[in-house]
This record gives sequence, C-alpha cells and structure tokens, in this order.
Amino acid sequence: MIISIDGPAASGKSTTARLLAKKLDFIHLNTGLYYRAITYIFIKNNLFDSNQSSIDDFFNKNNIELKGESLNQVYWNEINISSFLFENIVNEKIHITSNNPIIRKKLVSMQRLIGQDNNIVCEGRDIGSVVFPNADFKFFLVADLKSRIQRRFNELKLKNPLLDIKDVEDSLTSRDYNDSTRINSPLIKPLESIEIDTTKMTIEMQVNYIYKLIKQEQN
Ligand code: CDP
Repeated sequence: MIISIDGPAASGKSTTARLLAKKLDFIHLNTGLYYRAITYIFIKNNLFDSNQSSIDDFFNKNNIELKGESLNQVYWNEINISSFLFENIVNEKIHITSNNPIIRKKLVSMQRLIGQDNNIVCEGRDIGSVVFPNADFKFFLVADLKSRIQRRFNELKLKNPLLDIKDVEDSLTSRDYNDSTRINSPLIKPLESIEIDTTKMTIEMQVNYIYKLIKQEQN
C-alpha cells in the first residue's frame, strides 16, 4: 500500500509521515532527503554547471542510499552525510537541483523502486501528483505561513540558539515560491487528495486523524 503526503515546508509532513508509518508498521520515505543529498553533493563538487551527460555520469558513478530503521540516514558512497543536509547553503541552492528534470527523473525512479515491494508512507512535493499518482491514499498538508515559520524556528533553534526568525521566514518564503512556481513537478494539491489544514492541530491530532481515515476506508 502507498500513502502519499505532500505539502509545503514545515506543514508537518515529516513528523506526521514518520509517526503514521510507525503506527501502521510501514516504511517512511522522506523524498526531500534525496533532493537535499544531491544538492549537498553538487555544492561539494561544484557540479551546478553539469550537462545531461555529466549528470548521467554522476548517477552511474555515485551511490545515494537511505538507510536505518526509518530510512532517515543518508549515505553517499557509504559515507553518512545526514548531518549536513539541513544547512542553510543546502536550502539556498536546492531550487536548482529540484528544478532539474534529469535529476528529478533519476530520483523519482529511485523512489518508485522503494514503493514497488513495500508498504510506504511517502512524503514530498510531487508524490501524489508524479511519483505515485495511483497511491491508495493521498494527503495534502497545509498550514498558514506564520505558524510554519514558528514551527521551523522552534525546531532549528535547538541546534542554533543564535538563529534569527527573520532568516527562517526568508528561507521558507523563498522555498515556497520556488517549489510552487518551478516548471518541473511544482508543488500542487494532487488530484483526489485530502487536504488537511494543520495550523491549529498538534502532531498527535494529525496522525490520529489520518490513521482513522485510512482505517475507516479499509473497513
Ligand atoms: O522538510 P521540508 O519541508 O523543509 O523540506 P524537504 O521535504 O526536506 O524538501 C526540501 C526541498 O526539496 C523542497 O523545498 C523541494 O524544493 C525539494 N523537494 C522536491 O522538489 N520534491 C520532493 N519530492 C521533495 C523535496
């Protein structure tokens, strides 16, 4: 079974997907980790000017794998790069890699492979629209910008006590803009998806709400 969860940054996708997967005993697939990994590797290797054949070459010679119980550890050629993927520089450059059709095509096929033989809760921007348009259940999470900024600020402040909320606001608004206006697989509400506004919901409420909808439909 495939459950897709799409939505903008800090709408609650990752935590909801992780907890829902746990409750259902499914695999949690966070597709943003792939886009973050490619962006980090492209920054490290100065690959942003790559043409189609050098991107093909890159994918032939490099191995990017998600490992660990909740598939949240990202390995690049056996090196764990997970701790670098949420740095500011990655957020600043991710619009370039995530708007590249060759990169998207490669990553989408890697994601479909995981969905082929597994029950998964898969989250991202194009899951119900492009990666798994025939998903069994499709959810689209939204929340107002102000609370998404506050949530992301609270999360990041734990690691960086000097963080300025204005920087979080700038990063989120520019990512929202790029994700929804890009030419390739923009963030949209997928057809037949159920929209959930999480602005006033706790994580527990979100997970239970989705869980109940799934169980009701199955009975
Ligand atoms: O966790 P957060 O919502 O901040 O973002 P993420 O899911 O880690 O995704 C980071 C970025 O990767 C997004 O802003 C998108 O530009 C890109 N992405 C995408 O294009 N397609 C996906 N399926 C997942 C992420």
